[in-house]
Amino acid sequence: MVAGATGLLGNEICRLLRAKHLPVTALVRTTSDPAKTEQLTKLGVQLFHGDLRKKETLDQALQGVKTVITSVSSMPFSYKPGDNDIQSVDEDGIINLINASKTAGVNHFIYTSFSKNLDLDFPLRNAKRKVERYLQNSGLTYTILRPGCFMELWLSAAVGFDALNGKVTTCGTGANPVAYISFKDVAKFAVECISNPAARNAVLELGGPQNLSQLDAVKIFEEVLDKKIEVGQIPVEALQSQLAGAEDPMQKSFSGLMLCVSNGDRIEMKEILDKFPVKLISVKDYASSVI
Ligand SMILES: NC(=O)c1ccc[n+]([C@@H]2O[C@H](COP(=O)([O-])OP(=O)(O)OC[C@H]3O[C@@H](n4cnc5c(N)ncnc54)[C@H](OP(=O)(O)O)[C@@H]3O)[C@@H](O)[C@H]2O)c1
Repeated sequence: MVAGATGLLGNEICRLLRAKHLPVTALVRTTSDPAKTEQLTKLGVQLFHGDLRKKETLDQALQGVKTVITSVSSMPFSYKPGDNDIQSVDEDGIINLINASKTAGVNHFIYTSFSKNLDLDFPLRNAKRKVERYLQNSGLTYTILRPGCFMELWLSAAVGFDALNGKVTTCGTGANPVAYISFKDVAKFAVECISNPAARNAVLELGGPQNLSQLDAVKIFEEVLDKKIEVGQIPVEALQSQLAGAEDPMQKSFSGLMLCVSNGDRIEMKEILDKFPVKLISVKDYASSVI
């Protein structure tokens, strides 16, 4: 069962599982985008309505399920302050899913957290680490996926990396290495974890094929686009004061993440790739695919 199947990562996981002809169910909300739920149905995914905030909606969806994969997060697209937020979804909601999975006799619980380097004090990081500890102590066989920054988000206009329009604003100086990974590769790891014994009770730090600074990524886009990109920066001090001053948990978490990116997120993949044969998408591949 995939929870988060209407999201970027969860949808790709469903697609890969169905391509292997595996039976897949998905937990979707009554409020989920109908275009996305229809697309899941077309893939052959069986849908169950449920919401991680409401424990009573989880039992039916979990009946007979062997493996749970969750990519659920309230941040950023499903976030509603005081309603569908970091406390109720990323923390309490995932803990509800762990408890319900245990009761239902699930064999393996695969949880999407994030890189150990994203480790300043902010609400999303605190929720992720709390859930990781809860899962590790739950008695369930677990895999904790700890991907670094998705290139599709962190090298996009949504976070100021508007290479296509020739303008990029880096977090801090942009000089520190970041292991940009494609969400498509995170999905491949998630699927591989179902059958790979190395994933049992394991924490997997997942990065892309190279550790590249934000400025290296700009150079790659310049080469691929064959044009100069104007580069500005949000100074580290500005990110630090945003983190200290933000009231809303989502804004605080976003500032915290940007500060972590500015500090760098280096991940070495050699050891994991020896155990999980995934061919990683590079930033150059990605840049070439979006132009
Ligand atoms: N972006 C990155 O760079 C990055 C890096 C490392 C790790 N991650 C992690 O990767 C995971 C997947 O990210 P993504 O980009 O795929 O996220 P996304 O596209 O925003 O998807 C989030 C999913 O969570 C679901 N959801 C939200 N609230 C829910 C609730 N109360 N009950 C049940 N489902 C709920 C959403 O359903 P609706 O469609 O109904 O709203 C959606 O399917 C997240 O855990 C994220 O923290 C991301």
